[in-house]
Amino acid sequence: MGFIYSQLFVTPTYPTTSCAGQTIIVTGSNTGLGKEAARHFVRLGAAKVILAVRNTAAGEKAKEDILGSNTKVKSSNVVEVWHLDHADYASVKAFADRATTELERIDVLLLNAGVADDKFLSSNGHERMVDINVISTFYLAFLILPRLQATAKRFGIRPRLTVVTSEVHGFSKFPERNESSIFAALQNPDAKNMSERYPTSKLLEVLVVREIAPKLHGVTLNMLNPGLCHSELSRDSGMMLEVIKFFLARSTEVGSRTLVAGAMAGEESHGTYMSDGIVADEHLSPFVRSEEGKKAQEKVWTELKGVLEGMEEGVTEGLRCMTEGSGNGTDAGLYASTGISYAS
Ligand SMILES: NC(=O)c1ccc[n+]([C@@H]2O[C@H](COP(=O)([O-])OP(=O)(O)OC[C@H]3O[C@@H](n4cnc5c(N)ncnc54)[C@H](OP(=O)(O)O)[C@@H]3O)[C@@H](O)[C@H]2O)c1
Repeated sequence: MGFIYSQLFVTPTYPTTSCAGQTIIVTGSNTGLGKEAARHFVRLGAAKVILAVRNTAAGEKAKEDILGSNTKVKSSNVVEVWHLDHADYASVKAFADRATTELERIDVLLLNAGVADDKFLSSNGHERMVDINVISTFYLAFLILPRLQATAKRFGIRPRLTVVTSEVHGFSKFPERNESSIFAALQNPDAKNMSERYPTSKLLEVLVVREIAPKLHGVTLNMLNPGLCHSELSRDSGMMLEVIKFFLARSTEVGSRTLVAGAMAGEESHGTYMSDGIVADEHLSPFVRSEEGKKAQEKVWTELKGVLEGMEEGVTEGLRCMTEGSGNGTDAGLYASTGISYAS
């Protein structure tokens, strides 16, 4: 009922907070919610908006479109199109290296890129939604985290690391949490219930944010639910969803306001779930808020940390460095303990 009420009767506030002087990265911004959020950031005076896209030709078109609708922008250099493919870890790494080298500051990393498949597809040896929506997303987050931390220190600000998740996190029963390795279970191509996989990928995002946020200082990490919105996400999801969207979905622009709200939110949003553009942890699923959810969250993070460290040793150090005390060190053998095969 809360979902239908929000869709029909709540319109997230039109963004008006100035982004002057800020450098903002939006992943998956050649189309959909990411593109509309980027359009807002440009209108709100951001110094630089990086469209991080896997298809740079589509990114250039989006740039043209955004600049065309923001005629007051003085220089077309405000928007830059950079290549980023979540399905290629080398591309994620190259993107992060470039961002670290070329950008003097990063105020916002808006992690929006995502896929919703209706069948089992693989990327980097993992099921694709788990890989693109979760593994690559947090790989990029950790690669860029040191730059966010440096920005915080140098400019005396609190950069934001914002993950676009979804209320469908509550649709997953997540039976894989009872397996000895969650990520190994999720990469089994014989998985029967693929209709739950997109919700599971969004649940994993929620669990990881909740687990790591208390360990992270100086940077605001939050997550948000944009609501059901028109975009290209459901291109493979069939007629039923199209009908539901026809009656209930927000326009892409209205949905994108929730991304801007997350990206501009203050410290009060740290570790929280935002919905309709405001902090709304009470809208997290009962499972996420339960003791069982907390246990699952710890297990998911231990495993994901293992996967990320297997890809690049030390990549999650940024989290450890920002941790108060010394109890969060790297456990010997942890990374080998997940029983998962890693792509090199
Ligand atoms: N629309 C909704 O109702 C809704 C609701 C809740 C949450 N969300 C979340 O909102 C986010 C944005 O989705 P959207 O609705 O705007 O969908 P969309 O229109 O399909 O946009 C998704 C974006 O992600 C990019 N992307 C996909 N795979 C990628 C990869 N391997 N590397 C880099 N970028 C990649 C897409 O690029 P291409 O154009 O090249 O494919 C596109 O730019 C997603 O995280 C989604 O889960 C959406």
